[in-house]
Amino acid sequence: MQKYKNMKIGFAADHAGYQLKSFLIELVKNKELEFVDFGTNSTESVDYPDFAHLLAVAVENKDVDYGIAVCGTGNGINMTLNKHRKIRAALCWNSEIAALARKHNNANVCSLPARFISETEAAEIIETFISTDFEGGRHQKRIDKIECK
Ligand code: RB5
Repeated sequence: MQKYKNMKIGFAADHAGYQLKSFLIELVKNKELEFVDFGTNSTESVDYPDFAHLLAVAVENKDVDYGIAVCGTGNGINMTLNKHRKIRAALCWNSEIAALARKHNNANVCSLPARFISETEAAEIIETFISTDFEGGRHQKRIDKIECK
């Protein structure tokens, strides 16, 4: 993973995502990226919304630049994050999806399905996610229409 100067990443997971989150945090530490860990911090059973909401608020307040969220399927934590108005969380299971989530959707959280991807795949996904820029243009117009009136 390259070093992205001044970038801060927030992490959240439930018990099913804890181990993958720990692996990704070590990766980020080794590359001297800044991070905030919103838990959980063990494999003891917990409820993913309790950690998803903490991460969502941090992203909304710009305390972190991007969020990485992990649960077993990625779905529960992703659904919770997307209840927040300023969150665009994308469930990413490969690098191509992650790149498109940034280019087309300006996603600010990358949700990962811990039980369905390897550590290597997860590392590739988050590297792609944080290093890919939003393309703007026609995609901004579409994003503007996401919110319910
Ligand atoms: C936990 O067993 C599991 O349900 C959770 O991690 C997630 O997959 C829910 O969407």
